Amino acid sequence: MEKYLVDLFATAAQEQGQAPLWIVRLYLSLFNVPLGKTLRVDMVKHLLHGQNLQGKRVLDVGCGVGDLSFILANRGADVIGLELDPQKVDCANRVAKRWHFEGLRFLAADVTKLDEMGLGQFDAIFCVALLEHIQDDVALLRQMQQMLRPGGLFVLEVPSALRKTIPEVEAADGHVRPGYIFDEVPELLASTGLRAVNRRSVDPLGLIYRWFASSRIIPGNKARRWLFAALAPIFIPLIRLTSALIKRPGAELSFLAVKD
Ligand SMILES: C[S@@+](CC[C@H](N)C(=O)[O-])C[C@H]1O[C@@H](n2cnc3c(N)ncnc32)[C@H](O)[C@@H]1O
Repeated sequence: MEKYLVDLFATAAQEQGQAPLWIVRLYLSLFNVPLGKTLRVDMVKHLLHGQNLQGKRVLDVGCGVGDLSFILANRGADVIGLELDPQKVDCANRVAKRWHFEGLRFLAADVTKLDEMGLGQFDAIFCVALLEHIQDDVALLRQMQQMLRPGGLFVLEVPSALRKTIPEVEAADGHVRPGYIFDEVPELLASTGLRAVNRRSVDPLGLIYRWFASSRIIPGNKARRWLFAALAPIFIPLIRLTSALIKRPGAELSFLAVKD
């Protein structure tokens, strides 16, 4: 894993009181691709294959700790990451400064108020693991479509409404709906002026659910997080393998769309 990402995850984990810095750094350097979000980044990278982001103006809405924004900025894009949680924003901005990412900045903002922010037009907008948190998802999609330049790219990642879930985990994560149906999303995108040109899904066997469920055999949130992290090196390769072999919609869905 790139050193700036190790630093980002380690700093964020330490600030959220999840683990001492040295343990996170050791873990990340041993396992290279250890985090659940690795699968989301996998999908996005596949969808972006062959796209040149050099010099492009990019928006990453609901960017979390900002790892995808860093990856896009590292490809030469000029990136703004928007995130509700000011602690994550502050941490991401400090790491960006430490690693001299000139064209990368993070803003604490509510994406449902995008129209009030005056951010201008973008060549690409990324909306990864966010839409299921937003009550009026269609309004947000419309707003993002308006902020894209003609020919601009839109990358969407959402969970499948058909996957198995743990209700308390969903509620604690702030999901307002279980997810979306793979074959219905292109129509939803079309209704907001975005044409889906590629799509991809992972985890046809629902192993992400099993990964979560097996980490819950022990009590206590902190201990569960540790077990979840410890199981990642087993589950991530399995999920990658089954996703490559089995061609049916899985638990996580992603789409590349264009504004014509
Ligand atoms: C599941 S995380 C995904 C983070 C990141 N995109 C990723 O893929 O790792 C969802 C993020 O969206 C943020 N979020 C939720 N509602 C939001 C809103 N209205 N405006 C901005 N960010 C929001 C949450 O704080 C959280 O960090």
